[in-house]
Amino acid sequence: MLKRFSISLEEDLLAGFDDYIVRHGYSNRSEAVRDLIRKVLVKDEWADDSEVVGVVTMVYDHHKSQLQERITELQHDFYELITSTTHIHMDHHNCLEVTIVKGKASQVQELAGRLIALRGVKDGSLTMSSTGGHLR
Ligand code: NI
Repeated sequence: MLKRFSISLEEDLLAGFDDYIVRHGYSNRSEAVRDLIRKVLVKDEWADDSEVVGVVTMVYDHHKSQLQERITELQHDFYELITSTTHIHMDHHNCLEVTIVKGKASQVQELAGRLIALRGVKDGSLTMSSTGGHLR
């Protein structure tokens, strides 16, 4: 159910927000405010070490010695956090691997950090997501 509330803002701040709304393609202020609130709540869930979801993205050269084995070992060490993994062969050398993770924020961050830090991983990131309301 939608609830209404009103916000008082300085004119400049509102003008800046309206520019933001146009640049990001929002159809109205409410939609933009909803997204911003959700973003803050998701950030808060990660900070609170709540149950969260995320995506670990890695690009690496599979010819690098032992790298593939190290990735697999880490994924087995943290198997309870891993929902699924997708591997794409980008070209002769490079692979893109996407791992969907779910669990306590601190554990998810530890797994992501260790994967990304592996020698030979050219690019890596953790996209932190959640529902904005605690997962049960
Ligand atoms: Ni590959």
